[in-house]
Amino acid sequence: MSSHDAEDIRVALEGVHLARGERKVFRSLQCRFLRGQITVVLGGSGGGKSTLLRVIGGLLRPDGGQVWVAGQDITRLSERQLFGMRDRIGMLFQEGALLDSMTVFENVALPLREHTKLSEHDIAAEVSRRLDAVGLPGTAGLYPRELSGGMVRRAALARAIVTDPEIVLCDEPFSGLDPVNVRRIEALLCELNERLGLTLIVTSHHLASTLRMAHQIVFLVDGEAVCGSPGQLLASEDERVAAFLAAEGAAVPDLGDRAPDATAASSGTP
Ligand SMILES: Nc1ncnc2c1ncn2[C@@H]1O[C@H](COP(=O)(O)OP(=O)(O)OP(=O)(O)O)[C@@H](O)[C@H]1O
Ligand SMILES: [Mg+2]
Repeated sequence: MSSHDAEDIRVALEGVHLARGERKVFRSLQCRFLRGQITVVLGGSGGGKSTLLRVIGGLLRPDGGQVWVAGQDITRLSERQLFGMRDRIGMLFQEGALLDSMTVFENVALPLREHTKLSEHDIAAEVSRRLDAVGLPGTAGLYPRELSGGMVRRAALARAIVTDPEIVLCDEPFSGLDPVNVRRIEALLCELNERLGLTLIVTSHHLASTLRMAHQIVFLVDGEAVCGSPGQLLASEDERVAAFLAAEGAAVPDLGDRAPDATAASSGTP
């Protein structure tokens, strides 16, 4: 990697192979995620989106290849070193977003207790600040079952960012939410990205949101990745990408400044 690359690329997968049982999920997967950008990972169900986040988060070791996170090949790290690295990565999981037996406060405080030596006083202040940031003030004493689906998602997001990670992985943050809550979570993610410069890697089936918020799209298909700006993906001549977008009913939206390459990418297409 050149020094310029090393500066801007926060996560890179190089030739990653991974099989689960009989199924080859990744075959020499190559993809990169840039500093301060929102990358949305798209692809059909079972295409490997959650698996990709688990590999980047160091929860799953690939069978081969390199996984660079913040300048380190994490496939070479011991479990102990991986644990140390995880406070630089926030994770919002597809399933089991919060622990049911704990209050919102305890859930959001958990990563601070695991990864820092903050005093109870500082933990309380930090948790309260994060709950305010996701629009959930005054919910600290509630249990997950007392929250709506959208509120659970926002609380889980507060937990994902509580240690000030530089990279945040969100698996399907929009699934099961009504359109108002989709917009709310989307706005929250864009705000975190802009205000804190967070590098966000988001998996999603929600195409409209994806096209509005993504700087870059990584489309997983047949164990490989097709990467580009939203404009480039929409203009892609790759049949697999076109078929996916058509099935999702992609209308070409106003991409605004999310697609700086859109004009260039489509200029060759009539
Ligand atoms: N724990 C596991 N054991 C065995 N195979 C698994 C396991 N987890 C996932 N897989 C397989 O890996 C492949 C990729 O799964 P993954 O969950 O990453 O897909 P996905 O793109 O996130 O799908 P979805 O859109 O439904 O969430 C699937 O074929 C799945 O069956
Ligand atoms: Mg998944």
